[in-house]
Amino acid sequence: MAAKRCLMIGGGGMAGNWLRRFFPPFKERLEVVGLVDVSEQVLSDAGDFLGLPASRRFTQLSPAFETVDADFCAIVIPPAYHEDAVMHAVRRGLPILSEKPIADTSEACLRINAAVNGARLKMQVVQNYRYAVPNLTLRQVLRSGELGRLNYVAGRFAADYRKYASWGKVFRHEIPHGLLVEGSIHHFDMLRNLADANCGRLTGLEWNADWSTSKGAFNALYLMEMTNGVRASYEGSGTAAGEQNNWHAELYRAECEGGAVTVGRDRIVRINRFTRGKGLITEEVPPVTATYEGHQWIVDEFLTWLEGGPAPATTLEDNLQSVAMLFGAIEAADKHQVVDVQAFLRAGLDAAPAPGQNGVASSATAAPAMAGV
Ligand SMILES: NC(=O)c1ccc[n+]([C@@H]2O[C@H](COP(=O)([O-])OP(=O)(O)OC[C@H]3O[C@@H](n4cnc5c(N)ncnc54)[C@H](O)[C@@H]3O)[C@@H](O)[C@H]2O)c1
Repeated sequence: MAAKRCLMIGGGGMAGNWLRRFFPPFKERLEVVGLVDVSEQVLSDAGDFLGLPASRRFTQLSPAFETVDADFCAIVIPPAYHEDAVMHAVRRGLPILSEKPIADTSEACLRINAAVNGARLKMQVVQNYRYAVPNLTLRQVLRSGELGRLNYVAGRFAADYRKYASWGKVFRHEIPHGLLVEGSIHHFDMLRNLADANCGRLTGLEWNADWSTSKGAFNALYLMEMTNGVRASYEGSGTAAGEQNNWHAELYRAECEGGAVTVGRDRIVRINRFTRGKGLITEEVPPVTATYEGHQWIVDEFLTWLEGGPAPATTLEDNLQSVAMLFGAIEAADKHQVVDVQAFLRAGLDAAPAPGQNGVASSATAAPAMAGV
């Protein structure tokens, strides 16, 4: 089968990792044939790395989408620009592999959904943390049923981003809801993944500590009830001054009928079983083996989908459930309410433009709706 030709949107930051680390194992199945980046320097460095001629390097989206012959596009630029890139791909009829979150606002997510569905295009959203080996191992324990029924899951992310611009890029310290939009979307998606259900109801708080140097809120505490009755809690902090549960060191603890299973900073999955009179017995779980991990798992899945294989888990349709948690969480904090996430999403979808009517805003509904955030 011929290698799929990729129009790559973004060449630096995370996109640099895509080009240098995530794509290379797939060189038989994937070829980057065009590159867009607003930075001339990044375009030059990444273009040279890829060996792309000048005619395939662009600082703007339109000429790239108009001239490059591609089989799909990959979008790895800040969330505020995802919608523009997706709409270009839709006009060109190109399948899309996009970094999370779908977009930076609920309205943009809903417009993207309408446009991509209207054009009947494949779109996958990157939720790579599902496919980190410790998280695959944790999920395997839960799915195996060896601890009985799942009661609740607790997730914790805590990172010291108290210093301005310490979280990789300045935009994360400038945008509204910085922690939730750029960080917690991963953890909400993981809670869905571990609970094996979507979110039913959610409530909680999002705020900014007085000493935070970021403009958007960097703290979050939430409670959730999933559609299968599993409960979940989430602590997210970008101002963590104590124990760190940073990227790839997040804490997840799943409490089950016959024991608990945990993973945290040392990335070792442990099962704990307590017996009255005997105490606690802890055992380490051997990591599962996986051909690909994280982003490479996603790239493999997406290529397989384009090649005629099954749809991946994190399609646009599936990922709407994760962004509904994200924008439902913002709504819950803003209105001091319990949000029915499924009703919130349905109302947002009802109020969104009909498939194919890209970017046409429709009237708001009275009920809390995803589009209303
Ligand atoms: N899945 C993960 O683990 C993970 C980790 C980090 C970032 N991300 C995601 O990756 C995306 C990019 O984040 P980042 O930290 O790399 O951002 P960034 O600010 O480093 O930007 C990435 C590249 O995009 C370019 N760019 C910016 N705006 C552009 C535009 N309008 N058109 C073309 N190029 C543009 C920049 O010049 C840069 O080279 C975001 O969606 C972010 O959430 C995901």
